[in-house]
Amino acid sequence: MSKILAFSTSSSKTSINKKLASYAANLVAGAEVTLIDMNDYEMTLYSIDKEKEQGVPQKAIEFKQLIDSADGIIMSTAEHNGCFPAVFKNLYDWASRVDDATWGNKPMLLLSTSPGGRGGQTVLDFAASSFPYNKAEVVGTLAVPFFNKVFDSNQGLADEKLNNQLKALITDLENRIAANG
Ligand SMILES: Cc1cc2nc3c(=O)[nH]c(=O)nc-3n(C[C@H](O)[C@H](O)[C@H](O)COP(=O)(O)O)c2cc1C
Repeated sequence: MSKILAFSTSSSKTSINKKLASYAANLVAGAEVTLIDMNDYEMTLYSIDKEKEQGVPQKAIEFKQLIDSADGIIMSTAEHNGCFPAVFKNLYDWASRVDDATWGNKPMLLLSTSPGGRGGQTVLDFAASSFPYNKAEVVGTLAVPFFNKVFDSNQGLADEKLNNQLKALITDLENRIAANG
């Protein structure tokens, strides 16, 4: 059984990215899914001075431990003015101070969604191009535009083309995890 860590980068209580991350993670055959919530990872804003004074917060250490114990990661990112939501950027900055190989060479599926027509493509592209520097094995990416039109709370991703693209990426993730043993 593979262990999948899934999360949205948003702390919205009604995060559409959390819905997408959860839906995608549950498509992974026989997976044990850990779905975390950014509300549990709010902490002091990173600064080098606070790091020297207080050390790295426990929550950032725990996030890195969750990464290390996972076989694969599914992240769905919200886009705030073209970037990551601040809560996630802060967590990521702290976690990178635990270990700059933050993503631990884990296979990662990167998703994004928004109510708009680009589906968070800008921040998704940034994640895909930058995460490998912190040792992510990015298996694939998918931006889901017009979330409220294409996602049904009972059925999931109702747009057939997008759902087939997601399923193909899930298969790629499963294969990469299997290859890692
Ligand atoms: C401060 C802020 C900035 C936003 N900037 C963008 C943006 O750059 N691109 C976009 O597609 N949507 C943007 N949105 C709309 C979000 O896509 C929308 O709030 C979405 O629900 C966020 O995902 P979440 O529900 O997972 O938090 C922004 C929303 C907020 C609150």
